[in-house]
Amino acid sequence: MFQSICALILAAGKGTRMHSRKPKVLHTILGEPLLGHVAAALRPLFGENVWAVIGHEAQMVRDTFAEHSLRFVEQTEQLGTGHALMVALPELRAAGMKRVLVVNGDTPLITTESMEQFLHEAEGAALSVATLQLAEPGAYGRIVRRDGNLAAIVEAKDFDEVQHGMPTGEINAGIYALDLDVAERLLPRLNNKNKSGEYYITDLVGLAVEDGLPVRGVCCGDDPNLLGINNPVELARSEELRRAAIVESCLASGVVIHAPDSVRIGPDVVVEPGAELYGPCELYGKTHIAAGALVESNCRIEDSRIGAWTIVHSFSCLDHAEVGEDCLVGPFARLRPGAVMENGSHVGNFVEMKKARLGEGAKANHLTYLGDAEIGARTNIGAGTITCNYDGVHKSKTTIGEHAFIGSNTSLVAPVTIGREAVVGAGSVITKEVPEGMLSVARGKQKNFPRRS
Ligand code: UD1
Ligand code: CA
Repeated sequence: MFQSICALILAAGKGTRMHSRKPKVLHTILGEPLLGHVAAALRPLFGENVWAVIGHEAQMVRDTFAEHSLRFVEQTEQLGTGHALMVALPELRAAGMKRVLVVNGDTPLITTESMEQFLHEAEGAALSVATLQLAEPGAYGRIVRRDGNLAAIVEAKDFDEVQHGMPTGEINAGIYALDLDVAERLLPRLNNKNKSGEYYITDLVGLAVEDGLPVRGVCCGDDPNLLGINNPVELARSEELRRAAIVESCLASGVVIHAPDSVRIGPDVVVEPGAELYGPCELYGKTHIAAGALVESNCRIEDSRIGAWTIVHSFSCLDHAEVGEDCLVGPFARLRPGAVMENGSHVGNFVEMKKARLGEGAKANHLTYLGDAEIGARTNIGAGTITCNYDGVHKSKTTIGEHAFIGSNTSLVAPVTIGREAVVGAGSVITKEVPEGMLSVARGKQKNFPRRS
């Protein structure tokens, strides 16, 4: 880890070109916000010393990262990237930092390795900039060199061929390394006399050159992973790039993937070699899929664990669920937060679980809702069983012992307990305890009348 060097992510902008209420850095790639990708790449190099400048919808950004150790500085008015650095400077100083790596928050595909490499190449220069050589420089800031040396960065809008020479295709990636002393000296000299009326961080280059300070343009080739995202087209392109890379590395590690082009796996997901996936499917968050597990097509699995030899059949949605070994899930199952399936349990089509535990070998195979429930091992839940856990005000719990049998179309009105080895007759509405080993039938008696003609 680097001493006295910190990272600063510029993330206060609105992202006008995304046409969205959400700030740009909260748009996602493979289920993770752009800012999360950037922070994750920087964390191994800077530990706690990662700051983000936020502003537009700052509270929304804070809430999204409440559980991260990101440090925030607020830029209440977004007057430009140079102004963002100005606002952050006193904080970084107060924390005893001497040098900073500044990264645009809309550059989510940077990696720990690429940043480490850049920092090494930037060593010894007062100010360094990562540059890219593009066939089509688009709206990116243009690098101007004199005698091969970095001389200035000119924004596309402000670029003038007569004044700045023919464009070379070398652009500013929006990644900078600089000494805080240098920043402190140059920032007061920034102005906003440009086409955008903003204080540009990029103008620091020209100012540093003016002062005879050593500046360096570190060319990173045409690495598409260093490109900033400004609109939905670029977001889709970057997401596809990351998606393909993750799937590729899963395949290489020994995961069997059918239709890999349609499989989406988040950066923090672990799929063990020997697991098998069918596309299209989406695996996000902190999901873990054990070796031997099989996930069929059209499933969406988020922050969930799937044990060995479990099969998740098509069209199942899992969110914060825990599924043991040798389980069967779906097709068309919905496991919501707090759903726990112990080893060998089955959940079939159109079954929904929420904050509910299904014991070892227990089965709920058809059309059932299990909410706030504890179900013992080897118990069978008949088709159409509903735990009535909500009375309009409170949520209540249903407890069912081991090896019980709940007949089809039963309503279990919580709070209620069904003892072990009890049997409930089909169509019952159970409002009171059914003691261990008892047979309970709670429904209107059938009466047969002679038919009138
Ligand atoms: C910027 C660079 C450009 C470079 C490109 C690379 C400037 C002036 N231009 O242009 O040379 O080629 O990135 O992708 O820096 N932000 C703030 N506060 C502000 C304004 C912006 O925090 O007041 C943040 C934004 O949230 C964004 C980042 O800074 O994450 C860059 O801003 P953006 O408006 O996207 O700059 P570009 O026009 O892409
Ligand atoms: Ca940008």
